[in-house]
Amino acid sequence: MKRGWLLLLGLVPFVFLQQGKATQPETWTIVVGGNTQGYLTPCGCTKPMLGGVRRRVTQTKEACKDHPSLVIETGRLAQGNPSQGLSRQAEMKVETLAETLRFAAVDVIALHPLDRFLGDAGLNGVSRLSRAPLLDTSPMIPSSETMPEFRKGPFGVLNHDPARGKAGIDAVGAIVKSSPETRWMVVTAGNRQEGEALAKEFPELILVVYASESQIAFSPLQVGRVWVVSPGVKGQGMLRLQWNGEALDGYEAVRLDDETPNDPDAARIYRRYQDRVRAEKLLEQMPRTSEAAYAGSKACKSCHTEEYKIWKDTQHADALATLERDFHDSDPECVGCHVVGLESTQGFVAREKTPHLTDVGCESCHGPAANHVKAPEKVRMPKKGAESCYGCHNSEHSPTFDFATYWDKIKH
Ligand code: HEC
Ligand code: HEC
Ligand code: HEC
Ligand code: HEC
Repeated sequence: MKRGWLLLLGLVPFVFLQQGKATQPETWTIVVGGNTQGYLTPCGCTKPMLGGVRRRVTQTKEACKDHPSLVIETGRLAQGNPSQGLSRQAEMKVETLAETLRFAAVDVIALHPLDRFLGDAGLNGVSRLSRAPLLDTSPMIPSSETMPEFRKGPFGVLNHDPARGKAGIDAVGAIVKSSPETRWMVVTAGNRQEGEALAKEFPELILVVYASESQIAFSPLQVGRVWVVSPGVKGQGMLRLQWNGEALDGYEAVRLDDETPNDPDAARIYRRYQDRVRAEKLLEQMPRTSEAAYAGSKACKSCHTEEYKIWKDTQHADALATLERDFHDSDPECVGCHVVGLESTQGFVAREKTPHLTDVGCESCHGPAANHVKAPEKVRMPKKGAESCYGCHNSEHSPTFDFATYWDKIKH
């Protein structure tokens, strides 16, 4: 008897709450990430290194834990232009990206027109591994006369390719107008201006996501009631939006810096990718076009004692360890700038095989010096200057590089 009462007492506020909730509009979280372009790991080589799928999964899980959610991934999955063919590594990265997106519970992947070049088999793989449907707008597939759409909760998502011109706009219009009760969002492969134009054309949309070539914006662009946003480039950030049942009313541009820990599930998948890169010996398959012989930095020590001492205390002398910390030391996309002579048949192979050519050594800047070591008076070394830095300190991997300030830190 007593238990019965307790149960009833317990039920009353519960029922009351449920009723209260039913009349309230539902809050949703919308996450937009993507434009990954093959950048699965934090990039830039300069603090703060931003992005990476392992951090993105962490932030997506965090964003989606309190409310029902819609997670949209925008395309441009592979690096560069896949119409010129994909390297084995690029292919592996697309698969790895797709697999990690599964742990971010991605609802839909809005393909970029360039993703079409991954081919049917490639795209099937993406969909299977990510468990997300793909929205395609490409004029290259004859079967896609009608614009595919994705729906979840009150929302509908469309994908727009500006290359389709008026036909593309009309296709968006036809679907949006035929289902006015749906809260429509459009992902476009167009730039910000094209995104704005879509928002002006269709004021009934709630969101337009455009493909940016720059960093994530810290506030949404508002065109009437439509928010025009972009997740930025290279998967460096992601957007977290809130829908209050009536309108979008929350926006956060999440910068994926090192304060975001790696998600353990995504880290496992990423580690498996790195193991595959190692197992398939991709580094060893890099073309080597020079025959120059290297001596290694230690071989300079006896005659250039001062220079050696200075070099030993710079970050250059520890540059391979930087890669080893995150298992990137067999990755052809990283190793070349963190060792000596990867372009030569006599250059770095692996720490065990060529321990004298690890790290950024004397010969990374001065050039191969085996002959100079044997006969220094006869074989002179060429003079070097700022030009010896730019091969590695390029705009992507050392955006803050300035010869005077950098040289000051390593001068000898
Ligand atoms: C056996 C001694 C010896 C060793 C070992 C040696 N050098 Fe030298 N190096 C010299 C001498 C001597 C000179 C000066 C030559 C001259 O200017 O006539 C020199 C000059 C240089 C210069 C300056 C060139 C210039 O025009 O001012 C560079 C750079 C250099 N060495 C780099 C290296 C590097 C890198 C290594 C190691 C891979 C190395 N050396 C190993 C003896 C050595
Ligand atoms: C073979 C590629 C390579 C070349 C050539 C090269 N660097 Fe570097 N440099 C690196 C790498 C890689 C690092 C990061 C090392 C690390 O932290 O693991 C680095 C780091 C540095 C740093 C430390 C950055 C800091 O914040 O303290 C300075 C300074 C620097 N380089 C100056 C130069 C200068 C000046 C030149 C040309 C004279 C040069 N480097 C040429 C690859 C290179
Ligand atoms: C084109 C040459 C180049 C390539 C390729 C390259 N790096 Fe670097 N890396 C550098 C240079 C140069 C620096 C030093 C940048 C600076 O301090 O301005 C650096 C620094 C770093 C640092 C230290 C950053 C810090 O916080 O101080 C890490 C970590 C790193 N690289 C990882 C990688 C990884 C991982 C890859 C492959 C995905 C890679 N690098 C590919 C040139 C390169
Ligand atoms: C990051 C690139 C870099 C590394 C690593 C490096 N050097 Fe240099 N080194 C230079 C540059 C650039 C100069 C010329 C600087 C100037 O304009 O005076 C130079 C100058 C020298 C000189 C003086 C001759 C001259 O040209 O003025 C010697 C000798 C030398 N380096 C030897 C070494 C040795 C030995 C090591 C390794 C222990 C080493 N360097 C490592 C870039 C480098």
